[in-house]
Amino acid sequence: MQIMKRLLHIIASPREDESRTLQISKVFLDAFTKSHSDWIIDECDLMNEHLPPLSQKSVSGKYVLLGGNELFGSLKESWQEIIQHIERFKNADFFLVSAPMWNFGIPYMLKHYIDLIVQPQYLFRYTEEGNEEGLVKGKRMVIITSRGGEYGGETKHLDFHIPYLRTVFGFVGITDIDVIIAEPMDMGREIREQKLEDAKKRASEIGFNA
Ligand SMILES: Cc1cc2nc3c(=O)[nH]c(=O)nc-3n(C[C@H](O)[C@H](O)[C@H](O)COP(=O)(O)O)c2cc1C
Repeated sequence: MQIMKRLLHIIASPREDESRTLQISKVFLDAFTKSHSDWIIDECDLMNEHLPPLSQKSVSGKYVLLGGNELFGSLKESWQEIIQHIERFKNADFFLVSAPMWNFGIPYMLKHYIDLIVQPQYLFRYTEEGNEEGLVKGKRMVIITSRGGEYGGETKHLDFHIPYLRTVFGFVGITDIDVIIAEPMDMGREIREQKLEDAKKRASEIGFNA
């Protein structure tokens, strides 16, 4: 039996149809599904997913794994939901991340999700030489974002959004990343519409050729 390939769409905007980011992502997905008609699109809408809290107990699992040991007993049981999120991520063949900028960085639900899934022995490990090694290899990611202001030139250093996403996903082994940015979105209608159109055009091209 042939296993169908799966694109995991991680959604970090609660604004549904009003979301500029998701409007661009829709164009990407329309193009992607045309050229990948046999793929499954798996929507992981972080506002509607249950993301378990990182409590004292669940966070201690990270340290068990960092120590090179396996989870055991009630700790293992309490990690079932975390492991499901990790497996769902790790077994995807392609990642689409839709995340607007919030307060110079990523929306909190995406940070929560990243804190849950980026776990030793699952998404990364340390080699015997003490180097870190990402365990999600040979997979592509497209990050789509929109932001109210503009973060080029003199304001580039205020962007804790795309550099962070590239760093954390690069850390787990995903380095083949395309980024589509629509900005500025909140500095006038005309420029918003123009930049949205530009981003949609790029999303369509990248989606088709992905
Ligand atoms: C909670 C919150 C924080 C925001 N923080 C920033 C920010 O730091 N910088 C910025 O340029 N825009 C900021 N914005 C504006 C959004 O990035 C912008 O409107 C974006 O297009 C929203 O994306 P969406 O329509 O996909 O939800 C913020 C918006 C919200 C709701």
